[in-house]
Amino acid sequence: MMAQKRWNCFVFFLLHIKHVVWTQRFQIVSPSSTVLVHAGEDVILPASLSPAINAQGFEVRWFRDSFNSPALLYQDFQIVPEHQIHSYKGRTTLFPEELLNGNISLSLQDVRVSDGGLYRCFVDSGLWHEEADITLNVEVLGGQPSISIGSTEDQQTRLECKVDKWGTTPDVTWRDMNGVDVTSESSVTEERDNEGLLRVSSVIPIKQEFNVFSCLMRSKVPRPDWHSGLTIYIFSPGVPGWSVVFWLSLLLYVAVAALLMFQWRRMRGACRPC
Ligand SMILES: *[C@@H]1O[C@H](CO)[C@@H](O)[C@H](O)[C@H]1NC(C)=O
Repeated sequence: MMAQKRWNCFVFFLLHIKHVVWTQRFQIVSPSSTVLVHAGEDVILPASLSPAINAQGFEVRWFRDSFNSPALLYQDFQIVPEHQIHSYKGRTTLFPEELLNGNISLSLQDVRVSDGGLYRCFVDSGLWHEEADITLNVEVLGGQPSISIGSTEDQQTRLECKVDKWGTTPDVTWRDMNGVDVTSESSVTEERDNEGLLRVSSVIPIKQEFNVFSCLMRSKVPRPDWHSGLTIYIFSPGVPGWSVVFWLSLLLYVAVAALLMFQWRRMRGACRPC
């Protein structure tokens, strides 16, 4: 009789444990495995538990390459700043009131180019743990290019088309006054600034004669926010730009006047009786 009771108790206990483990079982779900953001903006890496159980007592760890130096660690009902990657200090948080509904989304402020890449979200309830991946893509809208004139040591005049803060190497195209692609005569250099963004410079040697150059820089990969920048430079050796415009208009004016005069003479000639 006693043994029977013990056995019942044991079965009940087993069922209870199974019930606990079963109810604590969860998955991590995310509406998107890739999130796109522009540098400088804030972003939420969305993730929540399914079923939507209370995660306030769980460990929530958002990390990148190293499990032990996370971008954010929530443990024992609080965010733990120790071992956090230095560059994420003060920029990451969870939504504490949302944890109640199993919402473990990570908020990341003032996104930098270096934040781009894979994020892992690890959640541990003590009895069950799960992990999920989200990729953050950081897009950069680069500045507008500008052209400046200079000369090399051997007195060769050259134009430099420069742009700052591009995320990827742009395609550079130079054209002259006649629309001819002269890019092959140019050379490109690039360097990274301290934010990890590119400073691109394309240099083209030019002849000492009037010409108009355009420099077009654009993203290599067509994307939804396909980006480009165009700038134009009028080169007129020895004379300032306004006087070129003045002389060109005067020339045009003289040409038109001469043409009219010629036409008028011809008409008069035609009307003169023989
Ligand atoms: C989680 O919380 C954040 C912040 O309140 C919210 O923007 C997001 O939509 C929530 N996600 C879910 C799945 O409820």
